[in-house]
Amino acid sequence: MKKTTSTLAICAFAAGALTLAACLGRAQNNPQTSNDMNSEKITLVSPAETGATLLQALQKRSSTREYSPDGLSLEQLSGVLWAAAGENRPGRLTAPSASARYPIRTYAVLAQGIYLYDAPSHTLTRVAEGDHRRVAGMQDFVYTTPLNIMYVADLAAYEGNYSSMPEAEQLKICGMDAMAQCQNANLWACGNGLASVTRLMAPGEEFLKAIAAPSTYRFVLAQTIGIPATE
Ligand SMILES: Cc1cc2nc3c(=O)[nH]c(=O)nc-3n(C[C@H](O)[C@H](O)[C@H](O)COP(=O)(O)O)c2cc1C
Repeated sequence: MKKTTSTLAICAFAAGALTLAACLGRAQNNPQTSNDMNSEKITLVSPAETGATLLQALQKRSSTREYSPDGLSLEQLSGVLWAAAGENRPGRLTAPSASARYPIRTYAVLAQGIYLYDAPSHTLTRVAEGDHRRVAGMQDFVYTTPLNIMYVADLAAYEGNYSSMPEAEQLKICGMDAMAQCQNANLWACGNGLASVTRLMAPGEEFLKAIAAPSTYRFVLAQTIGIPATE
């Protein structure tokens, strides 16, 4: 019985690893994308199997509001976004989502533009050129930190069975989905030498304008992630 259980566990792990490799491989083999962090479409890389244990990450997690202006490496950017919103099996993400509706659209606000993350291809696509960090938050560190993540709900995800649910209820659920994603990124960050803070304070409407968001989009949550400032 014990042997069967461990064999099953090994098979499940191997299947998971292969699926992840296939998902991420799809992104890396796409010739139209580039690893250049200034390009219109950025191909992210597979998350490296490095970093602290989950227990060590939990022990380290705290909010940071002082960052170095240095940019993240492609590996760091890739790891953070995969933790926040990546696929860990086909059609399903690292974070849970109520009724698997997946209403959250995840945007990376970099100094060179605003990018939308696509989980199946593990890529970022630029949706607004230039430095838009002013619309990513209302605290000074946001405007100089190289990565801010904006979690935006698309209420169109609730069409059908959930369309009669009041918007306030839908938004409550979106907040929970977004917080799960945000905490995944918080843990990946502090487990890999980065610092982060979860943020509600942001000019949500201005951000939605900057990305020319459809009318069903609502700002839900923000997050800053960067290299901690040296004392
Ligand atoms: C939903 C939520 C929203 C938050 N919004 C902000 C924010 O807008 N700005 C900020 O500096 N910190 C924000 N925080 C971080 C909290 O202030 C922080 O978690 C709290 O002070 C506890 O400190 P710790 O995270 O270091 O344990 C937020 C945290 C959560 C969970």
